[in-house]
Amino acid sequence: MMMSDDDFLNFPVWFSGCTIIIVVTVIAIAKSKKPLKTLLTEARYELLYNYVGSKGMLQDFMMRGSNKIELPVKSGTTALITGGTRGIGLEVIRMLLKCDINVIIGCRNLQQGELLIANFRKEGIKTGNVDLFNLDISVLDSVRTFSKKVTEKYSEIHYLINNAGIMFGPYIETRDGYESQFSTNYLGHFLLTYLLLPLLEASGKKEEKSRIVNVTSCAHVVGDINFEDINYRNNYIAGAAYAQSKMAQVLFTKYLDGIFKSDGLPIQSHCVHPGIVNTDLFNNSYIKKLAPAIPALLFKTPEKGAIPIVYACLSPKLEDKGGTYIHNCQIFEPSSSTNSEDLQKKLFDFTNKLLGISDFTGKSEKLPKVISK
Ligand SMILES: NC(=O)c1ccc[n+]([C@@H]2O[C@H](COP(=O)([O-])OP(=O)(O)OC[C@H]3O[C@@H](n4cnc5c(N)ncnc54)[C@H](OP(=O)(O)O)[C@@H]3O)[C@@H](O)[C@H]2O)c1
Ligand SMILES: *[C@@H]1O[C@H](CO)[C@@H](O)[C@H](O)[C@H]1NC(C)=O
Ligand SMILES: *[C@@H]1O[C@H](CO)[C@@H](O)[C@H](O)[C@H]1NC(C)=O
Repeated sequence: MMMSDDDFLNFPVWFSGCTIIIVVTVIAIAKSKKPLKTLLTEARYELLYNYVGSKGMLQDFMMRGSNKIELPVKSGTTALITGGTRGIGLEVIRMLLKCDINVIIGCRNLQQGELLIANFRKEGIKTGNVDLFNLDISVLDSVRTFSKKVTEKYSEIHYLINNAGIMFGPYIETRDGYESQFSTNYLGHFLLTYLLLPLLEASGKKEEKSRIVNVTSCAHVVGDINFEDINYRNNYIAGAAYAQSKMAQVLFTKYLDGIFKSDGLPIQSHCVHPGIVNTDLFNNSYIKKLAPAIPALLFKTPEKGAIPIVYACLSPKLEDKGGTYIHNCQIFEPSSSTNSEDLQKKLFDFTNKLLGISDFTGKSEKLPKVISK
């Protein structure tokens, strides 16, 4: 059975959170000091998010029976995860170690990382190695240095988990001049995936492909790619920028999987919506500011949010099912707008151009792989 997001659009979720939605939206508007046009757009996004969020919570509840995984033993394999010193990523790492997988962590705070490993060992998880490297995924040079160090030390990666992410927050441009959500959630991971492709290719086999797992969000359904102003600099709406970054991940996952197939690479890609999970990601949201009891009571725990991500890495049921969107360990149809091959290609070409990449897989043409900027 394949469910689709569009089925749920008609679902009578109204009563489930209607009052909260309206109250939160009105307070959000009242508290703002911005021009009316921006305010109205913000109000629209606030409503959309509350709607998508309530729907997501309901889906998490209805699909809870399928959000399960039996952890296999995968000794000798290597996973790389971005972020993961807290939130969902931390729980993913815990599960991977239990499977005796070697985990490479790319994080900004090495001290926090060391602490985390010590805690795992204290808890009695003795399997799996952990290797920490410094990575700020929002800074392109940091991504390059990180990838170089990893490539010097490792020759194979079986699972690449693009997990690090931020949500909402004020308008900030990174050192490279990109809006922070776009560069953290999408652009940095795009470059990382490109630079690590040889290691994924080296570990993949025809009958057991290596996997790229992108942690996206159901928020992609309200997303749109704003090619004219990819930073949303002229009219910054945090919610629009987040949704754009998450939609870009879905578009890219689909497009890239097609390229892997046509270039005959033993790699498959998935995107995963972990669910609506109670983590610090919501620190900038009105719901957490105004009604902190709701996330604590109704959202998934980080452990439950980690399950579909580990499932996308390890489940044999997904062999040869690349390019799919996973929700509560089921293949789920994302927003229909992500099916547009024109849009996928346009974004792919656009991003390659931003990063100076001329041949993503190195198989399509014989050109130098990176033209440094
Ligand atoms: N929570 C949800 O309901 C939900 C729903 C849909 C999708 N997601 C997605 O799930 C992923 C994980 O989110 P979460 O809920 O676990 O959030 P979280 O608790 O806030 O954790 C975010 C992680 O990303 C790392 N990170 C952020 N910016 C980074 C950067 N520039 N460089 C390196 N690492 C960076 C953080 O590391 P630091 O400790 O260094 O900040 C942290 O480990 C995100 O991609 C998010 O969009 C979450
Ligand atoms: C996953 O999404 C990132 C953007 O966050 C992109 O760079 C990366 O190549 C994607 N990987 C796949 C296989 O789709
Ligand atoms: C999020 O808020 C909690 C509770 O106020 C705080 O302990 C935590 O450090 C915050 N996290 C981030 C990343 O801001």
